[in-house]
Amino acid sequence: MAFRVRLIEWYWGHPDPVLVEVAHAAGALAAWQVGSRDEAVSAADAGCDLIVAQGIEAGGHVRGTIGLLPLLDAVLGAVAVPVVAAGGIGTARGLAAVLAAGASAARVGTRFAATLESGAHPSYKQCLVAAEAADTVVTEAFSVWWPDAPHRVLRSAVDAAETLDQEHAGDVSGDGEPFPIPRFAVRPPNRSTRGRIDAMALYAGQSVGAVTAITPAAEVIRELAMGAEQLLGDAIDRIPEWNPKARAS
Ligand SMILES: Cc1cc2nc3c(=O)[nH]c(=O)nc-3n(C[C@H](O)[C@H](O)[C@H](O)COP(=O)(O)O)c2cc1C
Repeated sequence: MAFRVRLIEWYWGHPDPVLVEVAHAAGALAAWQVGSRDEAVSAADAGCDLIVAQGIEAGGHVRGTIGLLPLLDAVLGAVAVPVVAAGGIGTARGLAAVLAAGASAARVGTRFAATLESGAHPSYKQCLVAAEAADTVVTEAFSVWWPDAPHRVLRSAVDAAETLDQEHAGDVSGDGEPFPIPRFAVRPPNRSTRGRIDAMALYAGQSVGAVTAITPAAEVIRELAMGAEQLLGDAIDRIPEWNPKARAS
């Protein structure tokens, strides 16, 4: 049986019905990660089956200018398709909050960059363990190969790149010969990267404070899912009008 992709997602650029149709024609679901209410409406109008609402708290490239909760509120009020919340969610509390607000799911990025399975460079992972939310910054500093695209990184990486007195921060080997990584390149360091890892694009969301150790990805999922379930159950118990048992008694 031929391998099939079940979901194709786009990010950046205006939601395009032609691209969505290509996904649908191939039997896949289509999604767009957006940073504003208007972009979410365009994605829904383009035929997307689901929308990822990305708040400014997110690690990596950041599409919009507002925080996740106001964005989620606006997007949920504007589209009928399922909405996935993204940006700054690294704990069970964060997951419970967006689910309670009406999101159908959450996207978690930074926490998985710091798992055993992640291909991120070990020093990058250790930087994530050491950092707090306030250690991240939205910048356009790492713009080589992708200009004019704001992104959230560790502030220490911007500082280190600024003081680097060499043209290249290091190199990376893929399938072929190592190729150099220019100072301020958009590419984050992976296991095959060498050089000044600390001065490369160390993407991190405000969720980074929740990264306290390098763990298997399954542990992160278990922690978030079980914790959120518990919190949401507790919330229902606390609010009598939500609690069928309390209502019946
Ligand atoms: C290391 C890293 C790389 C990312 N790369 C991409 C990417 O290639 N495409 C994309 O749509 N989003 C990318 N993102 C953003 C995520 O889709 C998501 O919005 C973000 O991780 C959510 O915030 P969080 O990091 O606080 O969990 C990346 C995020 C991180 C941390």
